[in-house]
Order: sequence, then structure tokens, then C-alpha cells
Amino acid sequence: MSGLSIFDLSGRAAVVWGGGGAIGSAIAATLGRAGASVTIIDQDPDRIAAAEAKLRDAGVDCLGLSGDATDRPECDRLVAQAMGRFGRLDICFNAIGGGAGKVLHPAEDYPVEDWDWILDLNLRSTLYGTQAAVKAMINAGHGGRVLSMSSVRGQLGINAGYSAYVAAKGAINSLTRQWATEWAKHNITVNAIAPTFVDTPQVAMLLDDPVFKANLVARVPLGRVGSPDDLAGAVLFFCSDASAFVTGQVLTIDGGLTATQ
Ligand SMILES: NC(=O)c1ccc[n+]([C@@H]2O[C@H](COP(=O)([O-])OP(=O)(O)OC[C@H]3O[C@@H](n4cnc5c(N)ncnc54)[C@H](O)[C@@H]3O)[C@@H](O)[C@H]2O)c1
Repeated sequence: MSGLSIFDLSGRAAVVWGGGGAIGSAIAATLGRAGASVTIIDQDPDRIAAAEAKLRDAGVDCLGLSGDATDRPECDRLVAQAMGRFGRLDICFNAIGGGAGKVLHPAEDYPVEDWDWILDLNLRSTLYGTQAAVKAMINAGHGGRVLSMSSVRGQLGINAGYSAYVAAKGAINSLTRQWATEWAKHNITVNAIAPTFVDTPQVAMLLDDPVFKANLVARVPLGRVGSPDDLAGAVLFFCSDASAFVTGQVLTIDGGLTATQ
């Protein structure tokens, strides 16, 4: 193995949970460009259709599936379909989540309905999707890669009513270390990436507010918010042979924000 071939994903198959979303669809394209075949899974059939068409146009060997990742048997069924199409599964990328800006409450009164919604969206989906994918990897015996979307909110508080979201992303960071420890014997590495704001429709409402955006950017040493493309290099590293001896890590991708805290 030499040079850039350590990033080559030819012959590998990936599942991208939330592959119809802004970050999921961008990362599916990154994995596909590196040579992987890609199954994108999302509960929104329209998003899946649009993302699948773009991947096909880019020459990626792909499959789009609709399904709910908070339903465990459905996750098993979806992974079985992906395996049926590509015959193997090497990479599980977890990009389902978010919702924080839609349910802001004081910590002392955080309502249980919104707590459950955010925990299901961010954590249960990651749990069930990963379990289904990792069982397939363990059965095949060839190792694999799990990479999850965390957030800087997994390690930093924010004075804005984010209790459930920080709990979910903190749990993803802990599970990353726990799963890395348990699945190392199967040569499955488990890591997470933790961005600050990434310019996607999900956070457009906040970033469209010039005062909010100016305050945010002022705290980021590199002086801007992220884009889905800012995640691509780290994703290629964590999903390829380049990171063969790296597991249980959470990489912040935040223009230096956490370095200042
Ligand atoms: N955008 C940001 O600023 C930012 C920053 C840090 C971390 N993140 C994290 O990155 C991830 C992706 O964010 P995004 O901005 O691309 O969001 P997005 O809303 O564009 O993508 C999420 C996708 O998940 C799908 N989804 C939701 N629930 C599902 C379910 N139960 N089953 C199957 N699919 C489901 C949605 O339909 C959507 O397409 C999230 O985990 C988010 O917390 C985002």
C-alpha cells in the first residue's frame, strides 16, 4: 500500500444513513468518488430519489432505499437489501440527526416529548443503523468502518435550550469509544466527526439571521461556518485504509472554535 491508494475505496460498499440529507448526500458522493458503491437510506423518498439521481449522474454505483432508522427490524431489512445488491458492507456512515434548533427549551423544563424526539432522531437511529450494519460486517469477517455525525455540542454547552441535542451527541461520542473497544476484535473501527455549524437547510433559519451568523463567525478562528465539503477529507480518512490504526476518536471540524474554549 503506498501513496494515495490508502484512500482508495474501490471494491468497498458503504451504507449512508440519512443519505437524502444535506451532509449524507454530500458524503455519499465523496465515498462514491473514492470508488465505493453506496446505498443511501432515508425516510424521505423524495430526497432519496433526488440524491440517487445525482449519484448516478456522477457515475456512482448506488442504491436508494426509503425507511425509518428508528425501527430496528426495518434497519435489518434495509441492510439486507443493501447486502443483496452489493454482496458486502464495509462502511457505515451515520448522518441522521439534527432538530436542535426546532425545540429550544430551558433545561429545567425540557419537555419529555421533545426530549424523546431529539434522542430518537439522533441517537436511536444511530444505534439501530449501526447495529444492523455491524452485524453484517461481523458475519462477513472482513472488518469495517463506522463513522457517525456528532457535533461540537457533544462536548460544549450552549446557552440556548439545547439539552436534548447535547445529550444525544454526547452519547454518540461515548458510544464511539465503547463500540471501538468492543468491535476492535472484529477489525471494525469506530470514529465520529464533530462539526460546528455546517451550512445546510437544517440550520438555514439560524444562519440567515445576520446577527446570529456574525456572532458565530466571530468565535471561529478561521472566520466562517463549515460546508458539507469541509467534512470530505476527514470522512475519506476515517472510512479508508488510511485510518487503519485509528479508532474511538471524535474529530472536531470547526475552524478552530473548540480550540478557543
Ligand atoms: N448542519 C449542521 O450545522 C450540523 C452541524 C453538526 C452536526 N450535524 C449533524 O449532521 C447530521 C446531518 O445533518 P444535516 O444538516 O445534513 O441534516 P438533514 O436534515 O439535511 O439530513 C438528515 C436526514 O436524515 C433523514 N432522517 C431523519 N429521521 C430519519 C429516520 N428516522 N430514518 C431515516 N432517515 C431519517 C432526513 O429525512 C434527512 O434527509 C445530523 O446528525 C446533525 O446533527 C449537522
